[in-house]
Formats: sequence, C-alpha cells, structure tokens
Amino acid sequence: MKEKLLAIKEKAINTINSAASNEELEEIRVGILGRKGELTGILRSLATLSAEEKTEIGKLSNAIKDEISAAIEQKVNALDEAEINGRLADEWIDVTLDGTFNDETAGSGRIHPISQIQYEIEDIFTSMGFEILDGPEAETEYYNFEALNIPKHHPARDMQDTFWTEDGNLLRTHTSAIQVRGMEKAEPPFRVIGPGRVFRYEATDASHENTFYQVEGMMIDKDISVSNLIYFMKVLLREIFKREVKIRLRPGYFPFVEPGFELDINCLICGGKGCSVCKQTGWVELLPCGLVHPNVLKYGGIDPEKWSGFAFGLGLNRLIMMRYGITDIRHFQSGDIRFLKQF
Ligand code: DAH
Repeated sequence: MKEKLLAIKEKAINTINSAASNEELEEIRVGILGRKGELTGILRSLATLSAEEKTEIGKLSNAIKDEISAAIEQKVNALDEAEINGRLADEWIDVTLDGTFNDETAGSGRIHPISQIQYEIEDIFTSMGFEILDGPEAETEYYNFEALNIPKHHPARDMQDTFWTEDGNLLRTHTSAIQVRGMEKAEPPFRVIGPGRVFRYEATDASHENTFYQVEGMMIDKDISVSNLIYFMKVLLREIFKREVKIRLRPGYFPFVEPGFELDINCLICGGKGCSVCKQTGWVELLPCGLVHPNVLKYGGIDPEKWSGFAFGLGLNRLIMMRYGITDIRHFQSGDIRFLKQF
C-alpha cells in the first residue's frame, strides 16, 4: 500500500512538472484527487486495513495529497507567469517611437489657421491692456439682439437670420453678444475682446458660410472718440499684416453704434490697383466698427453721460483669406487635410 502511494506521488509530480497548460493540470488533479481519482480510491479502501495501518497510510496519503496540491499550485503559478512574460515580450511596444508617417493621413497635428489668427489677435490686444472674454454660442434673444439696440421687429434682425431653438433661444449671430455680457460684469474704464464662433442661416458659397469666426472688441473710458478707434484699428492691422496698411472709413449702419463705420483696407492682393478679390475697387471691407450707442451702454448698466466707448467686430475668416489669398471660405470647415496641411 505504501509503495503504491509513493508510486502515485512520483508519477503525479512528474506529470505535473511536464504539464503545459492549466487545463492539463486540472485534468491531472481530477485524475488523482477527484472523487474517482487514484488517491481517493486508495483512501476509500482504508476500511479494510487494521487500525494501525489505517493511521499510518491515512497520514501518508494526506501528506501526499498536500504535496500534490502544492505542486499543482506551484505549476499553475509558473505557467501564469510564463504566459504574462510571453505576452510582455510579444506585445511590447515602444511608445516613444515615431509612428509610421503617411503624408496624407498622419503626421503631427497642427493648429487650425482660424485658431492661429485668433491667438495672434489675443496677443496683440492683451499687450495693449485688453482682457479676453468668452460667451455662450447658444444665446438668448436679449444678449444677441435686444440689448444691442435691435428690438423685436427691427429690420436689422433680417440681415442676421439664424438658427432658433424651440425654447426661443438662438445660435449667436455675432460676437457682439459678448460685449453686453462684458459690460454687465466689468466696471468702466475697461478694454475687452471676445473671440468666438458665430452662426447665420446662409446659403453657402465661396464667400458665405453658416458658421464662421469673429473677434469682438470694446473699449469704454472717458471721452473716447473716433480717433481712439482709428488708432487701435491701425495698430491691429499693422501687427497682423506686418506692414503699414492704408485704411478708409465709410459710414456703416449697425444699431449698436453711433456713428457706425465700415473700415476698409487697401487691397493687399493687388496693392489697390483692382482685382477680383476687391471687385476692382482697390478696397476690401474688413472691419465694421463705431462708437457705442448710448442705449447699448444703458442696457449694459453704464452711464452714457459719464462714459463712452468704441466697439468693433472683426471677421476672422475674411482676415485669413486676405492674408493667404484664399478664395473660398468653405475650405475652413471642409476638414480637408490637404488644405489644413498648408498652415
Ligand atoms: N456684429 C456685427 C456683425 O456681425 C459687426 C460689428 C459691427 C460689431 C460694428 C461691432 C461694431 O462691435 O461696432 O455684423
């Protein structure tokens, strides 16, 4: 009996050691220690032995059982570890390596030209003491129209048709809404700009998009005049175009400024001689602006007897188009990587 037990043990240890998987080990375990296993069978036959032998063989078989269980557990651990090490060796990647470069689809990301110019403008204005404000893209009618001196049935609303939500709000048609929010918060004197995305219900073509970008500007102080406005606009354009740019002011109507202007720049594409971009006039309309209307100041909680200011709304798409000679505004939102790669 004793020899039989020792033989079972030896065989078991050998098969366990040469097992190649956890499934195999489980089979071995069942074959020896399971209900119908070899060792179990022997323990069952103990009944026929003398009391003395029972104790001895019982003890021995329990010890063997423990030994086999321990050997199985050890082997399971060894196999698991080998599997993990194998996986680590096979699936190891060097995350610091450059990816495969496919010029059309891959490569490092870059900053969209609209964002580039936005950051440039932010730098120019912050260097002149302006603060940068933000505002929501979904606006209330009050901030987009009402507080900008454009009451409900005002014809100026027709020029800025937009997308309305069912609860009466709208996608902002211009960044001018940021002015109003700014006036509510800031104590004059102050200088702010508000860059952002704006929306119009437009039929799209080479020069019209339903989604585009503007930077709003507003300066409120004592005795602000058109000359302050011209000064800041000239600095802005000189910094952006890296040269002195000729400008002219024409009267322009916007309900939130009085007087209001269209600021034109001398066409940079043809140098003012006349081309298709400036429609042969030599001038390009770039920057609507004006002195803030007293009603708008009042809506913003600012006393128009004490304070005055200028405001402007700069279209970023147009600006970039002028700078790089881009002839179709739809490129910006096309997601076409060949276009974006150029910047
Ligand atoms: N909000 C106007 C638009 O999108 C642009 C504008 C004109 C803004 C005159 C101004 C301004 O601040 O003074 O058409």
